[in-house]
Amino acid sequence: MPTPEPACAADLDAVVARHGADPHALVQILCEWQAVQGWLPRQHLAQIAAALRLTLAQVEGVAGFYRFFHTQPAGAYRILFSDNVTDRMLGSQALMADLCRRLGVAPGRVGADGLVSVDGTSCTGLCDQGPALLVNHHHVITRLDAERVAQLAGLVRARVPVDQWPAAWFEVRDNVRRADLLLGEPAAPGAALSAALARGPEGLLAEMKRSNLRGRGGAGFVTGLKWELCRAAPGQEHVVVCNADEGEPGTFKDRVLLRSRADAVFEGMTIAAHAIGARRGLVYLRGEYRFLLESLQAVLKRRRETRLLGRAILGREGFDFDIAIHMGAGAYVCGEESSLIESLEGKRGTPRIRPPFPVEHGYLGQPTIVNNVETFCAAEHIALQGGAWWASIGTPKSTGTKIHSVSGDCECPGLYEYPFGTRVGRILEDCGARDTQAVQVGGPSGVCLSAFEFGRRIAFEDVPTAGAFMVFDRSRDMFEVARGFAHFFAHESCGFCTPCRVGTALVVKRMDKLAEGHGSRHDIDVLFELDKLMHTATHCGLGATACNPLRDTILKFRPAYEQRLKSLHFEPGFDVDAELSIARRMTGRDDPGAHLEKRS
Ligand SMILES: Cc1cc2nc3c(=O)[nH]c(=O)nc-3n(C[C@H](O)[C@H](O)[C@H](O)COP(=O)(O)O)c2cc1C
Ligand code: SF4
Repeated sequence: MPTPEPACAADLDAVVARHGADPHALVQILCEWQAVQGWLPRQHLAQIAAALRLTLAQVEGVAGFYRFFHTQPAGAYRILFSDNVTDRMLGSQALMADLCRRLGVAPGRVGADGLVSVDGTSCTGLCDQGPALLVNHHHVITRLDAERVAQLAGLVRARVPVDQWPAAWFEVRDNVRRADLLLGEPAAPGAALSAALARGPEGLLAEMKRSNLRGRGGAGFVTGLKWELCRAAPGQEHVVVCNADEGEPGTFKDRVLLRSRADAVFEGMTIAAHAIGARRGLVYLRGEYRFLLESLQAVLKRRRETRLLGRAILGREGFDFDIAIHMGAGAYVCGEESSLIESLEGKRGTPRIRPPFPVEHGYLGQPTIVNNVETFCAAEHIALQGGAWWASIGTPKSTGTKIHSVSGDCECPGLYEYPFGTRVGRILEDCGARDTQAVQVGGPSGVCLSAFEFGRRIAFEDVPTAGAFMVFDRSRDMFEVARGFAHFFAHESCGFCTPCRVGTALVVKRMDKLAEGHGSRHDIDVLFELDKLMHTATHCGLGATACNPLRDTILKFRPAYEQRLKSLHFEPGFDVDAELSIARRMTGRDDPGAHLEKRS
């Protein structure tokens, strides 16, 4: 088979040896070996199993869990189109079909000559410059158009190595549109760390708690409290983990922080290490951000050279801490902190039963804090300027600023940082959104707001968010938006628990049935019931939030669903009281949709 990538001299034994034949490094070994080999042949998995003293079944179980691992040949060129709704809105589906036609391959299949495969993948975190695709999991191509696709097909057919493709295709822009504390002028490396050392662990924890900083990864747990619990937990070695999985479709703020504020991220992690008494730090970097790895390693190297990492940091004897980067391999559920820890330990990313929580029993059973990239950046500022200063910004329960990844129907997609408490409408004005019918805040697992809610505020007290802000104008079909999200959750369900595995599949079935015009009002009721069931019965947050977009769109954009019923199942009566009662039950709100009342 032709090899477009430069041949790698390392052999499998050397890769395993580099990781000390440690079974906890299995995911990293598979990542590295696949980068060399293009896929993971069974005999190589057996060799890895023997070297790590695992069974072949264990190694195959891990290889089979992650979407970026191929246990069958996947082509010398493996092309994955980002398949978020915002990529679709920019024409990704037609571009993918065009590429498949030009290369003579069916989506998801390898061409007969073994040269290329073309498929879709969940959001690649480039929604501000889509449509985007990944080549061989290593290279990202942004701003695709028909011309690029035509040229790309020619380069593949001519077997030109990817690193000889036009450099402009691989350009990734930061698109910072509004900067505040975190995206503004960076602090000098080491300044916040010196301030943290001067305060001492107890003083630092007091400032963190005073700041009332809440985690930026979604759940909003109070960071100072998490650090304090971890510090107090008994263990041989405390661990700091940075969650850089950023898998929520429509979110790309961590990508920019990792690229342009890496010092702040690592400084925040080192400050956390000082607070909890950790010597080991791990960054879990999503596979889609493989293109950031070299620049991140370079920053780590510089920090070691300047004594901001390593032994006796800033000359302080006894303060030893270093950071390693682990790659993810295409599994959204691995953003959930306990799955992430499983993955860091070289296993399938199945969420753990909690309690115990990671602060007591985390990486290799040790007390571990897991925080989002943006949370660590915020910690740097708090160490430098103090908790009271941070708490004076934003709202009482949502202090400081928040970065929003804005994409979709607006003139200027990109990053917008505001103090908490900012109106949704203000963000829409600033990004140049026109004629907006809906905003999906916080990604598919977040909340879908309709126009009558644009006065609401971004804050844990009102509209919480992990950072995605996807804008839909009135030309968009909100049923199709929700259907795309339903497919996303079904695709990403890890399959561990039945309510999620079966529930997400049933949701897809009902939504597809409605899309084909075969659905009835009963199907919509069933979707509501599935939401209720999955909200309470699933094992982790993925299943619990999987129906959020359906529930919101059914409540707020009911006509988009009703239209699907008309041809075959038109039901003239619209029982507003019944609909409202379902809506109230589902949302726990008394005003689940003024639109329903308007229709009576
Ligand atoms: C399915 C799922 C995916 C998640 N993905 C991420 C993610 O990509 N990044 C992240 O920081 N947190 C993610 N989280 C939340 C983490 O479990 C965890 O709460 C977070 O990393 C804690 O950091 P924080 O306190 O700084 O927010 C996810 C949660 C779930 C249930
Ligand atoms: S809820 Fe879904 S993703 Fe979470 S453990 Fe269950 S099957 Fe896996």
